[in-house]
Amino acid sequence: MNISRWVVITALPACLALCSTASAQTAAAHSATQLAQTPPMGWNSWNNFGCNVSEQLIRETADAMVSSGMLAAGYHYVNIDDCWQVSRAADGTIVADPARFPSGIKALADYVHSKGLKLGVYTDAGRFTCEKRPGSLDHELQDAKTYAAWGVDYVKVDWCHSEGLDPEVQYAKFRDALAQAGRPIVFSICNWGVKAPWKWGPATGNLWRTTGDISDHYDRMSVIGFSQNGLEKFAGPGHWNDPDMLEVGNGGMKPDEYRTHMALWALLAAPLLAGNDVRNMPPETKDILMNREVIAVDQDPKGVQGHRIWEEGPLEIWVKPLADRSQAVGLFNRGESVLNMTLNLKALGLTGPAKLRDLWQHQDLGPVEDSYTSEVPKHGVMMLRVSQ
Ligand code: GAL
Repeated sequence: MNISRWVVITALPACLALCSTASAQTAAAHSATQLAQTPPMGWNSWNNFGCNVSEQLIRETADAMVSSGMLAAGYHYVNIDDCWQVSRAADGTIVADPARFPSGIKALADYVHSKGLKLGVYTDAGRFTCEKRPGSLDHELQDAKTYAAWGVDYVKVDWCHSEGLDPEVQYAKFRDALAQAGRPIVFSICNWGVKAPWKWGPATGNLWRTTGDISDHYDRMSVIGFSQNGLEKFAGPGHWNDPDMLEVGNGGMKPDEYRTHMALWALLAAPLLAGNDVRNMPPETKDILMNREVIAVDQDPKGVQGHRIWEEGPLEIWVKPLADRSQAVGLFNRGESVLNMTLNLKALGLTGPAKLRDLWQHQDLGPVEDSYTSEVPKHGVMMLRVSQ
């Protein structure tokens, strides 16, 4: 439970008759606690398109999210990252780039909603965004109200040009602004792990970045993903660690490496924000992004982030307990050649027999008495569900 929001809610009776604004805030805060009960899933423009965003790209992406099956697989949010905004109007209202978003963000939100999807935007807690567009500093409430009026469902707030600011204080301002704006909006804190956001993030937003940016390379992705061990105690329904968006399908990794990326993010209960061009997805990309059994691990209602239970040289075993008392298990080989890996049931607190299922292959592997051994490819993963 999000403590500070909870405090606002319980404070309500004292000012019921007097403060109508406060009660509207409280209602918004209350619904905000219902957001992101499982890690947010969707798409974001940054990893593949950078600054090259437009309403045409967002509309085509929304269409493709539906036609490709991404929405049916659980990817609900279509999020515009940096570069949609150009200036502020005389009254301070943020202005979308009229050349790239001629119909405006409200019309885009209406279109995205008509497809059964939700719309996200991006801003920055400091003076400017990383691409030097106007940031939200000293415009927090105004921007939150503008997003609410447009029908925005998700906001990512970055940390560039924030010299001299304290992230815990600034992001709390944004949280309160969103609550006051009165629309449930998922609040994504993006300050790259500065000042340990996992400590104050749960009382502030729905997700917080734990590291600097990912890139479409196995080395960077794996350094970020495997470094998340220990942060599991801070995550839970409504508040998640965010090891950054997915690179699956962007071309810089091999299929085994992308499977490692997806499996690790699922075991971490990480937000799943696809970062590829969903308008042109080859079958091997779809198979990874839309593997329902792997997604189910990420979205499991118990909401527990997995952790590492064993390591030996380049080999690591990670476990995530699931709501039905089964356990999702990843056998990861970070080494440079194929290696055998053995899972001992004892390491999962089990005495045999246990049932194993291969989640990538959608195949039952049959009962196991004590241990299970499998080859795991270089940079690859064997992803299992173990139950009794
Ligand atoms: C970075 C952020 C990225 C992306 C980029 C946009 O700070 O971590 O995810 O949003 O800014 O400029």
